[in-house]
Amino acid sequence: MNDEGDKNAETLDTKVEVRENGPLLVYGTLQVTLKDGSQEVKNKTTAFCRCGASSNKPFCDGTHVKQNFVG
Ligand code: FES
Repeated sequence: MNDEGDKNAETLDTKVEVRENGPLLVYGTLQVTLKDGSQEVKNKTTAFCRCGASSNKPFCDGTHVKQNFVG
């Protein structure tokens, strides 16, 4: 890891939580690089889809409930 990476690890307080039958929740400030290369900064809580059915990937849009996702 380079110096910048080490610095980020010291300054960011990030927690990850796998929700039963739901998304992956990431708490903290994140920079997300999307598949088209664009970037978004997310604050507080970000939900990432684990079920594969979201229309807003990589983020959860709540579709896992309709899909009765188990995992
Ligand atoms: S986990 Fe919520 S839409 Fe996939």
